[in-house]
Formats: sequence, C-alpha cells, structure tokens
Amino acid sequence: MNLIYPKKVALFTWGLTIATMAFNSIGATSEDNQMAQARAKASALGGSLKSALQTAIANGGVENGIVVCHEVAGSLAAKLSDENWQVGRTSLKVRNIKNTPEPWASANLQVFAEQLTAMPSRIPEASYRDPQTGQFTYMRAIVTQPVCTACHGNDIQNNVMEKIQSLYPHDQATGFKTGDLRGAFIVTYTP
Ligand code: HEC
Repeated sequence: MNLIYPKKVALFTWGLTIATMAFNSIGATSEDNQMAQARAKASALGGSLKSALQTAIANGGVENGIVVCHEVAGSLAAKLSDENWQVGRTSLKVRNIKNTPEPWASANLQVFAEQLTAMPSRIPEASYRDPQTGQFTYMRAIVTQPVCTACHGNDIQNNVMEKIQSLYPHDQATGFKTGDLRGAFIVTYTP
C-alpha cells in the first residue's frame, strides 16, 4: 500500500471520530454495509483462529497450538479476503514479521492502547474512508485474554518458547498481561 499521505490524514480524521464512531452521519446504506461487513470479517477471523487454537491445544498441547497457528493464521485471513477485501492482524510487537504495522496503523495501535488503559471495558475501534479513492479501512483492538498468555505472556513454558523461536526467530510478541492491547484486526475494502 502506498497511501501513506492519505493515511496520515486518516489518523487525524480517526482522532476526531473515534469516540463516537459517528463519521458516517449521513448514513448512506452502502457505507453502513461496509462497516458491518468489516466488523463481521474481523469477528470471523477472531472466531476461526480461536477455535483452531482451542482444537490444536486440546489435541497436542500449547506447542501444537504454535504449529497450527503458524500453519493456519495466514490461510484463515486469506479465506476472508478477496479482490476487494483484505483481512489481517497487526500489533506493536509482532510474532510474524508479515504482520508489522505501517506507520499509520502503528499510530492507531498506540491510540488504542491509551484508550484501553483509560476505559478497559470498551474495545477500541476506528475507521476511515478515503474521499478520493473510496478505500475503506477498519481497525479493531485485540485484547489479551488469560488463554493468550500461554504463548504471549511472561511465563511461557520452555518447550513452547523453543518452538516459537524456531518458527519466529524475530518474535517480539511476549510479555503481554491479561487486559493489555495485544494488537488489532485490520480490514480494508478497496473498490
Ligand atoms: C498456542 C499458542 C498461541 C496462543 C494460545 C495464542 N497465540 Fe497469538 N499467535 C501465535 C502464533 C504462532 C502467532 C503467529 C501467527 C502467524 O504466523 O501469523 C500469533 C500471532 C498473533 C497475532 C498477530 C500479530 C503477530 O504478533 O504476528 C495476534 C494479534 C495474536 N496472536 C493474538 C492472540 C490472542 C488475542 C490470543 C488469545 C485469545 C492468542 N494470540 C493466543 C500463537 C498463539
């Protein structure tokens, strides 16, 4: 994506609309629909990853969860993507370097982290529509839950840590506590 300048504008717009999500005040149906679809895609990716993880851990322990997550995370996101929609995850501290945020996304993650600290019961989200291209971008925070800390926490079992390091030599995604911002779903619609 080479939309750095529009995305910088996006940050400004998001800053203004983030509290109310009222950017779509006219309520054009197709735009409402894009927001609904983007939210649904983020939820679908979260749900399918979670069930794949739970099955993998039940069948072969946390170490097997790492292997399965490594194998399916990309394809589950790809299944929800097509020529218009792009669905994925990102974080300020990534495990898979393919999930490294662009600067505008990183700035949004920082805002999400502050919002989550200020109001832990509300999951931060933000959206932006580029007035020139019509491209629509949606981000929703992913919060660390107790189950996540087996692979992203402070006290990871040795065998699990070895598996992580063998598959992800540049891993940064540890040290998270329950309630911390772990990352975000990022969903883009390009007309
Ligand atoms: C069994 C180990 C395991 C558990 C449990 C686990 N993850 Fe992960 N997580 C991984 C692996 C492996 C990756 C890298 C996947 C890839 O290659 O794209 C990852 C990647 C991610 C990413 C994408 C950003 C990045 O760092 O690359 C997010 C966000 C994430 N995990 C959130 C969570 C959350 C939230 C939970 C709890 C609901 C959780 N994870 C539980 C192993 C795990």
